[in-house]
Amino acid sequence: MQIQLETQPYSSLQADAIVTYVFDKDTKIEGVLADLDRGMDGRLAALAEGGEITGKALEMVLIHFPEGLDAKRLLLVGAGKPDKFAVSDLRKIAGAALRYLKSRGVKKIVFLAREGERDAAAVRAIGEGLIVGDFESDKYKSEKKNNEEIQSVSLSGFEGAMPAELNSALDCGRVIAESQNFARDLINEPSNRLTPRILAARAEVMAKEVGLRVEILDERKISELKMGALIGVAQGSVEPPRVIVIRYTPENPRPGAPVLGLVGKAVTFDTGGISIKPADNMEKMKYDMGGGATMLGAMRALAYLKPSIPVIAVIPATENMPGGRAQKPGDVQVAMSGKTIEVINTDAEGRLILADGVTYARKLGCTHLIDAATLTGAIQVALGSVHVGAFGTPREYLDQFLESAKAVGEKMWPMPMDDDYEELIKSNIADIRNTGTGKGGGAITAAWFIKEFAEDVPWVHLDIAATCWVDDGKPWLAKGPTGVAIRSIVDFAQKL
Ligand code: BES
Ligand code: ZN
Ligand code: ZN
Repeated sequence: MQIQLETQPYSSLQADAIVTYVFDKDTKIEGVLADLDRGMDGRLAALAEGGEITGKALEMVLIHFPEGLDAKRLLLVGAGKPDKFAVSDLRKIAGAALRYLKSRGVKKIVFLAREGERDAAAVRAIGEGLIVGDFESDKYKSEKKNNEEIQSVSLSGFEGAMPAELNSALDCGRVIAESQNFARDLINEPSNRLTPRILAARAEVMAKEVGLRVEILDERKISELKMGALIGVAQGSVEPPRVIVIRYTPENPRPGAPVLGLVGKAVTFDTGGISIKPADNMEKMKYDMGGGATMLGAMRALAYLKPSIPVIAVIPATENMPGGRAQKPGDVQVAMSGKTIEVINTDAEGRLILADGVTYARKLGCTHLIDAATLTGAIQVALGSVHVGAFGTPREYLDQFLESAKAVGEKMWPMPMDDDYEELIKSNIADIRNTGTGKGGGAITAAWFIKEFAEDVPWVHLDIAATCWVDDGKPWLAKGPTGVAIRSIVDFAQKL
């Protein structure tokens, strides 16, 4: 799909559909819509009057053969109440419009900006919305929906703004959205087609393509480094673990600049191990590598966007299987940091591999950390599938991260990290245990476990277990992997 900025007047553009949006307010037909309405002899005003155009969020009104336009259709997308509207809503509007038109055989779209949103931020949001909205999970379907492909989208109505700025905003949006889709592709892969070794190979290909340094630690190197927590998880599988290390270094690194470490959980399949999961929904545990994919997507985007600080991704990858050599409840493992861990539940494996991931990132010199993981079912109980659970210390560092999330329109909610929760992961026979005491707060005790390894390094932990995958599609998003958190992480790295 091609996306470009258009400078010709929209009325003379040949297209299968022109898309614009309409607010839910008393005077719906104003500005750009009033222009359109004049060409259409007041038809829009009449439709609004008759209650067929309400402006309710994501309502679709499709008008065929609109007078005064060379395009074959006019699609008006509801934008909701104007006082609640933010630039990030353009992402949803663009994605929803694209998905709506795609299923109607439309090939060529013009997206017409409105008087309030004609800047770089709008262009970027629209571009992202279109590309993320275009993603489908049909890789393994024999019958592809090729007849339902959008060929081009022209962004119109931006005449007043600086073209160079708009083009670079569009490029930025394109890179980020394509990186999101890159991660979503990986997350979709079934575990027989994405083992830790295959994930590492795909990470290597990506890194080389975009010019990043990459190193894959194999099982020998992992055991030399004494990553006992990762090894404990991996030993139940015949598939060997890997640790993927990808580095971005800016051209003129500032002396003393922070080094950002991105640690992602990549359990390519989580059976639960000996503490085995029930069969219902277990197939979804192929997406337990979503945190790792998130960090790969973020690195891909950063390679193009070139932030001023070095960034290192550390992605421990393994299966969690109940093989004959699997670790058992009650086992004690020695993590790379030297801390001893009593494994109460082998299904709480994510925090184990992150422990060594975080330790290794610190060893490589990371001064600031973010981890992302499909870590707990408890985060779904706490926040549903709406917000990512965001943990972190110190609080100012977490707040800084949440600013980025807000800026890019990703919903994240701060979770408590009071010392009181630390008590819950004390073990009788080792330094810590890998689960809380079972009286709730499961997402928080999981976060606290990781903090035991991040220690005083500024650290953010994103529990994406409930947001990395959506079972029901949304008008702007196919069901399946979402690619959540990449936009925030990239924004944060650019601002740190
Ligand atoms: N991978 C799961 C968490 C998960 C659950 C991800 C649902 C996506 C959807 C994780 O490894 C896990 O099993 N966590 C346990 C921890 C418990 C044993 C303390 C959980 O949340 O039940
Ligand atoms: Zn698990
Ligand atoms: Zn898991």
